[in-house]
Amino acid sequence: MRVLVIGGGGREHAIVWKLSHSPRVTGIHCAPGNAGIARLARCVEMPLAPPFREAIRHCTEHRIDVVIAGPEAPLVAGLADALLAAGIPTLGAVKDAARLEGSKAFTRQLLREAGVPSHRWKSFDDPRDAIGFFESLSEPWWVKADGLAAGKGAVRPETIEAGCRLLGDWLGEGALGEAGRRVVIEEPLTGPELSVIALVSGETIRLLAPSRDHKRLRDGDQGPNTGGMGAIAPVLPPGAPVLAQVEREILRPTLDALHARGLEYRGILYAGVILTSEGPRLLEYNVRLGDPEAQVLLPLLENDFAEVVEAMLDDRLDEIELLAKPGAAVTVVVASAGYPESPRRGDVIRGLSAAERILGGDGVVFHAGTAAEGEHVVTSGGRVLAVTALAPDAEECRGKAYAALEAIQFEGMQFRTDIGAGTQIP
Ligand code: GLY
Repeated sequence: MRVLVIGGGGREHAIVWKLSHSPRVTGIHCAPGNAGIARLARCVEMPLAPPFREAIRHCTEHRIDVVIAGPEAPLVAGLADALLAAGIPTLGAVKDAARLEGSKAFTRQLLREAGVPSHRWKSFDDPRDAIGFFESLSEPWWVKADGLAAGKGAVRPETIEAGCRLLGDWLGEGALGEAGRRVVIEEPLTGPELSVIALVSGETIRLLAPSRDHKRLRDGDQGPNTGGMGAIAPVLPPGAPVLAQVEREILRPTLDALHARGLEYRGILYAGVILTSEGPRLLEYNVRLGDPEAQVLLPLLENDFAEVVEAMLDDRLDEIELLAKPGAAVTVVVASAGYPESPRRGDVIRGLSAAERILGGDGVVFHAGTAAEGEHVVTSGGRVLAVTALAPDAEECRGKAYAALEAIQFEGMQFRTDIGAGTQIP
């Protein structure tokens, strides 16, 4: 099987790394990849926007059997539709189904129609209506841009006045571009957060280990929101009843509602869930693996990932049981100076081989924003590395990951020291 993986972050390094262990895989290409991925795959540059001619041409010319999409943006723009129309098997949602991530208002409406239990929300495109509603609240709710906004689209304003200003900026002034021309205003939820990531093919749903990411920049969940500063899995014991409840009450009715609209879902479906006192509530859907959740979930997966992907594409996922390795995995993200506001590029990264030696067979240093520059590896993005360790329990994972991380140095590196601590859900 010759595979093209789309993307160039830590999640895609984890996908490429996992595929590289499969005897079924005879070649891996990655667009665009990064310095770590380049050790395992042929990295190629190509435009990834409609009509995706370059991707189709590359697959035909290099006899690619399967394309696996890492990030959401190409899926929301119709990558899977274009490749499938050209006869290229693709793991990833088609454009209309990718609206589960591409439009918050679409998802909320779909869930309402499907009778999925939900917190309160309202959608607006008129600034006056939105501001009027916000002024009527007794405390600020979340304001979420309808479309993809590169991590800047979800804000919980500190005051009602700040919320009204934000709504004026987004809806009235277009400060967030097209993504913010419609908003969903949502009631805040209380309870532990959980990432439930499912592989979906037709009628079949298979859950990966329940995981959790840490979105804030600094220890103790302080500081600005980021793409994710680390992750841990599992955070619930295997077979915890709440997982079956999420599948039954949220994922299954969502897929049924998509089917009722004539949409088949084949790919990853990531439910960000809050376990409230009234039951699990969906915070958001993503149509892809989480980043950095992938950097713990794929190392924990016992199965041959290529075999799982083949089964998903052939409508045989029901024949596959997903098996998790015993124990836990923790990944600690190392970010560049200035992240998340203005990540600095070009800092030389040292100690990567030493960190890999410390992890031995019990972990991986995944690259995210890295590039090769002469004989050096340098920073080239906000999240630079994800240091993953596997061990019998979370504390041991943390010890190993942080021991490996000690060996890595670059100017201005930032990381949290509390990833995976105290995250088990009782
Ligand atoms: N870890 C959150 C995300 O991938 O969006």
